[in-house]
Amino acid sequence: MDEAAPPSGARPRVVLGVSGGIAAYKACELLRRFTESGHDVTVVPTAAALEFVGAPTWAALSGKPVSAGVWADVHQVPHVRIGQQADLVVVAPATADVMAKAAHGLADDLLTNTLLTARCPVVFAPAMHTEMWEHPATVANVATLRERGAVVLEPAEGRLTGKDTGKGRLPEPVEIFESAVQVMLRGAVTQDLAGRHVLVSAGGTREYLDPVRFLGNRSSGLQGYALARAAVARGAQVTLVAANVTLPDPAGVVVRKVETTAQMREAVVAGAALADAVVMAAAPADFRPTSLSESKIKKAADGSAPAIELEQNPDILAEVAQNRARQGQVVVGFAAETGDTTGSVMELGRAKLARKGCDLLVVNDVSGGAVFGSADNDVVILDADGSALDVERGSKNIVAHAIWDQVVRRFVM
Ligand code: CTP
Repeated sequence: MDEAAPPSGARPRVVLGVSGGIAAYKACELLRRFTESGHDVTVVPTAAALEFVGAPTWAALSGKPVSAGVWADVHQVPHVRIGQQADLVVVAPATADVMAKAAHGLADDLLTNTLLTARCPVVFAPAMHTEMWEHPATVANVATLRERGAVVLEPAEGRLTGKDTGKGRLPEPVEIFESAVQVMLRGAVTQDLAGRHVLVSAGGTREYLDPVRFLGNRSSGLQGYALARAAVARGAQVTLVAANVTLPDPAGVVVRKVETTAQMREAVVAGAALADAVVMAAAPADFRPTSLSESKIKKAADGSAPAIELEQNPDILAEVAQNRARQGQVVVGFAAETGDTTGSVMELGRAKLARKGCDLLVVNDVSGGAVFGSADNDVVILDADGSALDVERGSKNIVAHAIWDQVVRRFVM
């Protein structure tokens, strides 16, 4: 299923609130993502937002008239109707000012009126300078909004307006879109991972032969990134150890970039010391060349090819599972199986779960290589207690939530 696609019949109604920050131009891409995936989007900018991107741009991209005030088309009562009819409100960028108004119930323009009348899920994607984000007033307002059930995404770190860098950057539009769609699908997101620290690994490691060549694999990192994003939406503090993934950093996640299995082992073992759950969605290379040539290996004049000798890498999952850093820590492995003469996909999965010593093993059948780079996944979650959960084929986000459901079940066992 394309989870961004509307259910048959009605197109989901999304209100895109845009407040006055330089990142307002990035909301154009967010708007495009919503409209192209079949959503009916009404853009409600603030007057300050219109200083950055004008009404004609929003009207052309959304196909609807745009107004910041409550005095246009008064006979249609837009200051009440837009919020009442919405299936989702996303405010991106959300300034400190608009969040302060929302937290205090002020309603002096169309966007703040809409926020007061909406009864659907609301997502704020903040963008501001670090000082504003860290100011006690903003901290309190964000806490109030979250207590009331709104999702306030963590801003990204990086270049801000002007020359400064720090926390406060608008998360990438694709990240806001993914989070918002998840929120709309699940309604109010259960914060059942609040107070938990989780570590997720993603991507495929590379083992270098020389400075330019490596042995690698086809892992895209999509499932691990979906797991990280889903855990953030459920309230967890998330560390993501990513090997050679080209996707943007998920909003609100601490990302540690690695290349080789040895580097991944170091980062995962260090992170596991603080983690309530470790999910090894990465594909670490099982073997590495016994030696690394410092210079590029040249072709031999006689036409012969060099022999590459390999040695085994450490098994990170087995190490973490068999030396639990914390009591009650839940360790989750993945198994991409094709089945062979020694057993079926499920038999090999059960054997692997026992061999590695983890609590849960997410088994997917990769016969034919169909899963790599695809947005969908088809898995069975095996539990060390002998049970198995068949997750209906769905997007990697849906699979991610199914995995966290099982982790949470183990936390409360
Ligand atoms: N894994 C790991 N360290 C490795 C290799 C794999 O932590 N060096 C983890 C993967 O992240 C995954 C799980 O182990 O969660 C299963 O990986 P897989 O390669 O399928 O397992 P292997 O033990 O290598 O089994 P096989 O012989 O079937 O390849």
